[in-house]
Amino acid sequence: MGELKGKKIILGVTGGVAAYKAAELTRLLVKAGASVHVVLTEGGAHFVTPVTFQALSGHRVWADLWDPRMGNNMAHIDLSRDADLIVVAPATADVMARLAQGQCDDLLTTLCLARDCPLLVAPAMNRQMWEHPATQRSVAQLVGDGVTVLGPDAGEQACGEVGYGRMLEPEVLYEALAAHFQPKRLAGRKVVITAGPTFEAIDPVRGITNSSSGKMGYALARVCAQAGAEVVLVSGPVALPTPYGVARVDVASAQQMHAAVFANLDAADVFIGVAAVADYRPADAAEHKLKKSGEAMTLSLVPNPDILADVAALPNAPFCVGFAAESRDLDTYAEGKRRNKKVPMIVGNLVQDALGSDDNQVVIYDAAGRHPVPRGAKDALALRIVEHLGRLLVAA
Ligand code: CTP
Repeated sequence: MGELKGKKIILGVTGGVAAYKAAELTRLLVKAGASVHVVLTEGGAHFVTPVTFQALSGHRVWADLWDPRMGNNMAHIDLSRDADLIVVAPATADVMARLAQGQCDDLLTTLCLARDCPLLVAPAMNRQMWEHPATQRSVAQLVGDGVTVLGPDAGEQACGEVGYGRMLEPEVLYEALAAHFQPKRLAGRKVVITAGPTFEAIDPVRGITNSSSGKMGYALARVCAQAGAEVVLVSGPVALPTPYGVARVDVASAQQMHAAVFANLDAADVFIGVAAVADYRPADAAEHKLKKSGEAMTLSLVPNPDILADVAALPNAPFCVGFAAESRDLDTYAEGKRRNKKVPMIVGNLVQDALGSDDNQVVIYDAAGRHPVPRGAKDALALRIVEHLGRLLVAA
């Protein structure tokens, strides 16, 4: 991605276990051509040494407000002067509270106050600390002050707790920083996205489903939110955390997904159907668990509604984007789906290339033809898809 090439990024590393992930973030940013200047707080230096960051960034690491290396003794002014962005990762509850208060009692907080560029923070802390009203007040204050809060993620924590508070993975932070330099293509737009598989019950413990990790739909939801859109994500059963700033509605069956989409379509500008919706469901789901009889069993299936086609057929339909996962003849089937479902844009891929993996290769089909997108991580592809979508929306 070229968005980060030549950008000057100040990376603030504060005292959390996730400080080790900041080393990988530094590596990714440097690889993308950014110039990374690390400011390590006293707490941060307890977890990772300056040598690590110096080796990875190729620049000396800053820690002290009174660093004698800065001729005019104004490290806080000189460092932030031509910075394109300051990111604090990990950001502890303490640094967030101090930033929210406008305190400047060390180099990092002073830099943040003396800056003339965007500030992004990636919180990392224990679940209870994150949920504490004091931290939530800091978050609200920072957001109100125009600071971008990236994450946190949910999952297992170093302290043994499970819940929100984990710092986003370095790859995700990297994508978010790259996205930050993207224009806000979807500002003021409302986007409704379906993602994941659907689950069609046979009885209380069994059902029919499709293979879908939900990763592509979630990546798109994240990127649309980063591009400035209000995003509603209608999700089938997946094991993924909700992207920051996205409103998520959980559903199981295709009928529930259909109902949830239509309940959220009001004032929607864009609908993106990424979900692998089951085309059929059992005619009658048994109320109680079916017992085996040893005999052959026939399951009677009835068709599910086609959510994408139904949305596209609305009188004032939002701009519709479909996905086509095919096992062969991608051009024929994907373009065929675009015409049959009457949608302006379809993203096609060969299933053998993609399922469950983080990488994918896609081709975008629209009225102007086919547009292959270079192979990449699903997050990077999502950026390219949103770029294309943004261009078509402007032209629509
Ligand atoms: N889709 C949908 N509702 C359905 C089936 C599909 O909204 N009941 C959407 C998917 O989210 C995707 C697009 O339609 O955006 C294409 O899905 P796909 O399953 O590939 O297409 P089908 O129309 O089901 O065609 P087939 O299974 O015959 O390939």
